[in-house]
This record gives sequence, C-alpha cells and structure tokens, in this order.
Amino acid sequence: MKSKDTFGSKIALVAATVGSAVGLGNVWRFPAETQANGGAAFLLVYIACVFLLGVPVMVGEFALGRGIKEDAVGVYRRLAGKTPWWLAGTLPIIASYMILSFYIVVAGWTLEYFFFSVTGDLFQSSSETIAYSWGEACDVQFKEKMTEYIQSDFKPIIFTFIAIILNLLILVNGVKKGIGKISNILMPILFIILLLFCCVSLSLPKATEGLKFFMSPDFSKITPMVCVNALGQAFFSLSLGMGVLSTSASYFPKDTKLVTTAITVSSLDLLVALMMGVIIFPAVTSFGLLGNELEGATLVFVTLPQVFSQMHFSEFWSALFFLLLFVAALTSTISIAEVTIKFFEDRFKVSRIKSCILVILPLFILSSVCSLSQGTLSHIKIFGYSIFDALDACSSNIMLPVGAIIMSIFIGWYVDKKVLKDEMTNHGEINSIMYPIVAFILKWIAPVLITIVLLSPLLK
Ligand code: PFF
Repeated sequence: MKSKDTFGSKIALVAATVGSAVGLGNVWRFPAETQANGGAAFLLVYIACVFLLGVPVMVGEFALGRGIKEDAVGVYRRLAGKTPWWLAGTLPIIASYMILSFYIVVAGWTLEYFFFSVTGDLFQSSSETIAYSWGEACDVQFKEKMTEYIQSDFKPIIFTFIAIILNLLILVNGVKKGIGKISNILMPILFIILLLFCCVSLSLPKATEGLKFFMSPDFSKITPMVCVNALGQAFFSLSLGMGVLSTSASYFPKDTKLVTTAITVSSLDLLVALMMGVIIFPAVTSFGLLGNELEGATLVFVTLPQVFSQMHFSEFWSALFFLLLFVAALTSTISIAEVTIKFFEDRFKVSRIKSCILVILPLFILSSVCSLSQGTLSHIKIFGYSIFDALDACSSNIMLPVGAIIMSIFIGWYVDKKVLKDEMTNHGEINSIMYPIVAFILKWIAPVLITIVLLSPLLK
C-alpha cells in the first residue's frame, strides 16, 4: 500500500466518504431503531452520540488511516510492533464481516422491491383486501407483500444472491472504478427525491402526530438500553470502528482538513437519517401504524410503499427509490467487504481474486441463514433475538463501540501524540483549535463514556 493515488478534488473526497457512510443504516435501520426506542428521546441521544463521540472517533480513524496507510490490523502492527495491540485490529474485521452477512440480505430486499415495483406487483392488491376500507386495505396489502418478499424462504434469497454476485463482480474488478462514479451521480438524486418524499409525507393527514413522536422528546424514555442502541446506531451509520474510514483516509491528500471532513460527513449522514424520520413517522401515524406489531426491521418496507401509493406514478417513484437505495447499499457492502479482502491480501499475500472469493463465498451460506431467520428459522433465538437481529445487535451495539474504545485508548494513551497532532494540523500547515479537544475526548471521554453506556444495562 505504498503509493496511493489521491482523490482529485475535495468534493469528490467528501462525496466518496459520504457515499460509503450513507446507506441502509440511515434509511432502514435508523427509523427502525427510532421507533423501537421511543422516538424523539432516541433521536436526542443519537445526535449527542454522533457529535460528542462519532466525530472525534472519526477524526482518530482518519488520522490513523492517512498517517499510516495500512489496513485495520496493519495500523496497530506499524505503531505497536509485535505487541498484542494487533489483536485490536482483528475486531473490526470480525465485526464488519458479521455486519456484511445481514446487510447484504437487506440489500437483497431493496433489489427485490425495485424489481417488483418495476413489474407493478408491489402495487397490485390481492382479492382478500377488497373487503377492507381503503386505508386498511393499503395496510393489509403491503404487509402481505412484505411477508411474501421478505419472510418467505426462496424469493429473498434469490435477490440476496444476486446482490452478492454483483458485489463479487465489482470487487474483483477493483473498487474505485465505475460504481464510485455512478454513486456520486446517484446519491445527490437520492437526496433530492428524499426531500420530495418529505413534502408528500408532511402533507398526509395526522402528519403532525408523527412529527411529534419523532421530534418532541419524552425524557422519561431515555433508558440505558436506549443509549446503547443510539450509540450502536451512530457507529453503524457513520461506518465507525470497522477500519473502513481509515482505508478511505489513506487516499486523502495531505491538505485535507480532517476535522472539517469528519463534521461534514457526519452532518450529511445525520441529515439523511433525519429526512428518513420526517418521511416515515408522519406516514406511520397517518396510516395508524404507530405502536402496532410491525417490526422495526421491516417498517420501511411497509410504510414507504404506502407513501408511494399516495403519489401519482407510484411504481415509478417506488422503482426509482429502491434502485437508488440499492446503489447506496452496494457502495456500503463493497466498502464493508473490502475491509476483510484487504486484510487477506495484505496479511496473507493472497491474490485479489482469491481474497475476494474467500470473503464472498461463505456469504452465500451466512446470508441464507440470516434470510431464513426472518421466516422458517424465526423460532431459533439467541438471547431472545432472531439470528439476524443477534448478529446485528452483537456487531453494531457491542463490537463497534468496543473497537472504538480500544482505538481511543490506543491513540490517547499509547501512540505518540505527534501522530494525531501532525494529521490534525496537516504537519503544522494549519492551526487546529480542535486538536486539544479531540485529543482529550479520545483520551478520556470516549473510553469512559462508551464503557459506561455499554455497561449501564447490566447495572439495573
Ligand atoms: N454506514 C453504512 C450505513 O449506514 O448503511 C453501513 C456501513 C458501511 C457500515 C460501511 C460499515 C461500513 F464499513
């Protein structure tokens, strides 16, 4: 990884990093977590996590990535020699692989929804729904479709496999080509249509009730578990603690301002999540779905089609949205898979193709199990969670924050202060007033606060 080509312009650099951060985490996972954790109270803790912990940890990852130019394990190896610190680098690799195994399933769902929007099947009501009033019929229809598209045994697996094969094809042909460029064009379009959907959703009857749920916090709902979930969501959405950002940062030019970039990326990522909340929750109350049995993970796949059904040319908007979301998911799965692929390439000197195959092949089995755990295997529970949810909770809510604690301790206590300072001041070229603040947060606040949050549910 010696000679690196650098990103052409600053905008391209931010766009590429935002492209890998924005994905199903914002569109699918954020509304689900918000609904399950009490709405606005969750949002408040989430925003605090993004700016108080997410941004400094992101700056730390950027600094290590640009300074050291190695994969997750390599960073620790280079800075800590043969000490056991390298073990810390394996955590992001394991966590990212666990994330990949369920994330790719959801990517498959988006592809499936795109396909059935194009064929028109998504908006075709079944004969049973005729007996219901219009609103109820709509609700019943999309829940039925969801059961068919997500919880049945074969359909979702077929689309997941297509997503896996697409990943493999893109990965063996080199990550930076093609898809990155396509995504830089499509992501602004996604942003614009989300704005449009916000307007549609806000114009629905009872929209203000949903907005209240999303934006007016009830502080009594802030529990230790809500904090753990908000922290996990922040790390997941910002792609922190997985070595993805350090890999991107290794391509940053010398004059990139790391703090400005971290704040811009985090704010844009938060903005997309906020827009999703503004789309989903007014629709949820408008269609009377708040507090009903709809599971968080599938919320978006029932509520959004209902919003589309309010618009002229429903199929068109639905197809466009799910296509864009699929591309957003693809840029994320590619960067997640890249962590493990780089690891095999760099550590075991395996060729690119072999490394890609080694990483992608087991995914066919893992993702099938995750997919089946939404239906046939839903009776198998791990600590009360389905296999899918257990993988998600363990990787996002535990492993990513633990990885961040270790990295903060590593930067704050072990590594020469010069590494962070040099990277934050661009080797003395700029004056970073944020340096002492970020250094303090990484040394004290992040390790202590994340540990408290992670342990708090046990103290009850
Ligand atoms: N941040 C992405 C999202 O919100 O969908 C998920 C993700 C991407 C996680 C890349 C990890 C990663 F390496």
